[in-house]
Order: sequence, then structure tokens, then C-alpha cells
Amino acid sequence: MERRDFIRNASLTALSMSAFGNLIWDGVHFVGDTPTTTDILGPFYRPGAPIRNNLRLPNTKGTPIILKGNILKEDGKTPLKNALVEIWHCDENEVYDNATDDYKYRGGQTTNSKGKYEFKTILPVPYKADQADESSWRPAHIHMRISAPNQQDLITQIYFENGKYVESDPWASAPSAVNRILKITQMKSGESEVLFNVILGKEIPLDAKVYEKITGLYEVDDFTVEFIKSDDALFMKRNGQLVANLNYVGNNTFEGGGTSFPKVHFELLKDGSVKANISTKSKTYSGLKFLKY
Ligand code: BEZ
Ligand code: FE
Repeated sequence: MERRDFIRNASLTALSMSAFGNLIWDGVHFVGDTPTTTDILGPFYRPGAPIRNNLRLPNTKGTPIILKGNILKEDGKTPLKNALVEIWHCDENEVYDNATDDYKYRGGQTTNSKGKYEFKTILPVPYKADQADESSWRPAHIHMRISAPNQQDLITQIYFENGKYVESDPWASAPSAVNRILKITQMKSGESEVLFNVILGKEIPLDAKVYEKITGLYEVDDFTVEFIKSDDALFMKRNGQLVANLNYVGNNTFEGGGTSFPKVHFELLKDGSVKANISTKSKTYSGLKFLKY
């Protein structure tokens, strides 16, 4: 897709997300009951990164940071232990490790008994998404995915205060990202810390049999779409490339922070076939499932 369309479609996605993440420390506990907002998955997620809390490489020239926080239930107070927190970002040279077994600057960890996580990593740098397009610079950002039983799987991104390109990037500048533009605090220890607390929404359950019915390959207009279940997130691939992360919102409908497809409604037809209706603000596509796997 052309960068311009890509940005326009993505902005529509951002606008369709109305919840503002909001979390305030009242001296005793965190207060706030709005789930942390989602952001686009981006093209570079790799499931199955190593479980580790130190991602720093020995010879990096990047700026070391500690990224830490609390993962909380939808009430904004109850800590979630054993939640899986995955992060991925580029290195100090704008490079994402998309291929090696080292999974550089990629890792996951589970929260401790108090719902806390803490990664040692480096500050990523701004990233030029399209080498031929000067307008495609993204601000420094870290992608995150947080999964916990009975909670809605969250895919999001964090940005940094005063970061170059934060104001021009369609995702970082979206209203839903305001509470994800974070301060970098210089600590006495010499470390720089970034605090990101997360409230997960409550999972809306959907029967495993329904997931089984809706996952698979669909012929949509002149392209192929694949839906894959991963925890309670539904990933969508278009012509083989991951393009969207979706969450179940009820009534066989999924919504999410994908690049161009904010909403998918599945119809389970009487003859046993399954139809996917994929809608953006400007266009609706639909197609039938033709293959399980
Ligand atoms: C990224 O988040 O890394 C990304 C997003 C859009 C296009 C290219 C890269
Ligand atoms: Fe990225």
C-alpha cells in the first residue's frame, strides 16, 4: 500500500479508538478504570521471543534504559501476576532483528506476584519506515504485547516525551496515544527509567469452537486474508503479511489497532460456511473462508 493511503487508513483506525488510558497513583494504589489504549502491531512482531529481562547487547552504543511498570486488571487496582509482557524495538541503528535466532531487542517476561515487570534495554531511535519516503519517519517507540488469562490481549506502543517525529507520526499523535508518551527519568543510580503502567480490559469470552470456525483462509475480493488465533488476539494477514491485531468485542465482531482494517464481523452461515465482513470507514470487503490450513 502507498504510504499516504497507509497513513490515512491508519489514522481512521486511531480515530475509531475512543478509550483514553488513564492511571493515577493516589499514594496507596493506582486509580483509574479505563483500559490502556491499543496501537498498531506494525510489520515486525515475532511471536516466541526468548523469555528474559535484559535485552542489552554487550557492545551497544545505544542509551541504556529501564522500562518498568505494573500490569493491572480492569479496575485499575488489582495487580495481575504471571501476565506475559513482550517487547520489541529497533536498535541504535534503526534495525529490527526480523530474521536471526538472537531475537535482538525482543523478549518477554511474566509479571511477578505484585504484577510488576522490568526490562533492561536501550532507547530505540526514530525509524524510517520507507527508505524512499522522507515523510515516513516514525518516532522512537517500543512495541508491547501483554497477555493474561481472562483479560483482553493488548498490543500497544510507547513513545517518549519530546521525541522527534512524535507530532508528525499518525499513531503517536493520535489522541488515544497521549498517555503513552512517556517521560525518561534520570535516576541517582545512573540509570534512565521509563515507567509504563498498564490496565488490561476484561476479556469478552468467545467459544473455542467459534474461533475454530473463523480462523483460516478467506478469499476477499482479489486478495487472500488469513485469520490466526493467538491467545485471545486475532491476527489478520493479507497476502501473507501480518496487517492487523484484533480483539473480540461481542456479536462475532472483532476490532483493533490494525493498519487499515478496524473491524471484522464474521457470519456463520446456515450451510456451514463462514463469511468475513471487513470494514474500514471508507470501504467494506467480504469473502468466504475456503481453507482451514
Ligand atoms: C513500525 O512500527 O515499526 C512500523 C509501522 C509502520 C510502518 C513501518 C514500521
Ligand atoms: Fe516499530
